[in-house]
Amino acid sequence: MKKSLGAKPLAMPTPVWVIGSYGEDGAPCLMTAAWCGICCSEPPCVAVAVRKSRLSHGNIAARKAFTVNIPDAAHVAAADYVGLVSGREGDKFAPAGLTPVASALVDAPYVEEFPVVLECEVAEAVELGSHTLYVGRIADAKADEDVLGTDGLPELAKVDPPVCSPADRCYYAVGRKLGPAYSLGRALGQNKQV
Ligand SMILES: Cc1cc2nc3c(=O)[nH]c(=O)nc-3n(C[C@H](O)[C@H](O)[C@H](O)COP(=O)(O)O)c2cc1C
Repeated sequence: MKKSLGAKPLAMPTPVWVIGSYGEDGAPCLMTAAWCGICCSEPPCVAVAVRKSRLSHGNIAARKAFTVNIPDAAHVAAADYVGLVSGREGDKFAPAGLTPVASALVDAPYVEEFPVVLECEVAEAVELGSHTLYVGRIADAKADEDVLGTDGLPELAKVDPPVCSPADRCYYAVGRKLGPAYSLGRALGQNKQV
């Protein structure tokens, strides 16, 4: 029997994304986000929930743009650092060992060292309470060539992104491959009458 745990945001795992934006003064800023995901195919969109107290919240609202930077496991401490310190306290790129690159497509910086980047324009800002859900329309997805598979798309094992468990507030590496999506379940419907 399942035990009720109360109304808690216990999705697991969550992504570990680093959101890039520019401040009022043009300084590049980063923040970690775990409350986020893909939310539309056409047009391709992502959604990121940002608490109103974050410097990034005002940055994204003002510039109507942000980047999603997906770290590899080797950069998990850098990804954590930018979620511990506010850009109000100064630059986060240098202490984290990261380099800002100006997007040519949207008004936000991305992270040179992270293998996958999504450049987004804000399409919607939905007020939910503590957080604003920024829906970003993806202008371009970029990836380092060494993480691409034979199909030209990023391979999960090569990207090796950390994920987060909100329950124990820890980072994990992605585990083993279980099988192909959109086909592994087909055998279960074989006896179904249509
Ligand atoms: C693992 C992790 C996940 C986080 N997820 C979110 C999130 O989804 N939304 C949010 O508003 N803050 C989140 N934070 C907190 C912000 O990243 C943090 O407050 C950051 O310092 C804000 O920086 P800024 O004030 O420069 O924008 C997270 C922090 C960590 C370490």
